[in-house]
Amino acid sequence: MELDPRTDRLPFNESDEAEQAPAGATEPSGDARIRHLQRVPLFSGFNEKELRRVAELARIVDVPAGTAVTQIGEPGNSFFIIIDGTVAVRTPVGGGSQLQPGDFFGEMSLLDGEPRSATIAAVTDLRLLIVDRSHFWRLLDEAPDLIKRILTILSRRVRHLEQTINAMLHGANPT
Ligand code: CMP
Repeated sequence: MELDPRTDRLPFNESDEAEQAPAGATEPSGDARIRHLQRVPLFSGFNEKELRRVAELARIVDVPAGTAVTQIGEPGNSFFIIIDGTVAVRTPVGGGSQLQPGDFFGEMSLLDGEPRSATIAAVTDLRLLIVDRSHFWRLLDEAPDLIKRILTILSRRVRHLEQTINAMLHGANPT
């Protein structure tokens, strides 16, 4: 995938993964962060106190279209939730799938310590909620519901991937 990083409002070094951005590169005020979190399905049912705790453990960063947020094979130290925008996912079996607001990515490297399994590129300008490795497990410890929600989505992604591979092996259209 050809990436086309724009330079007019880059919060990051062009050559770096977005996750290496300095903390608080585009940090909205406390109340604005809570409003963003209220829109994220992963946190549905969370009360204001719980959302405030999430906000303490996370940061919100704006990322321009074209940025590689994760690079396949590179080490990964952050978990991302899309607040606004769309990303494209490119895995070793191909590309094509996109993630939308409310979707998350970057959990795999934090869970198993392995390099990034996919390149995730910003199709549009993004607003991301970023939880760094040091806070990821604390967040899951404090909000065990998140573990169930993340596992459910992971299970769906594995099923979808299996269906895609099956369709590729049998020459059918994966959709
Ligand atoms: P991680 O490996 O840490 O970094 C790349 C991320 O891409 C990965 O975590 C997942 O969150 C995401 N990812 C990998 N494979 C898929 C897939 N098949 N569908 C959707 N997202 C994926």
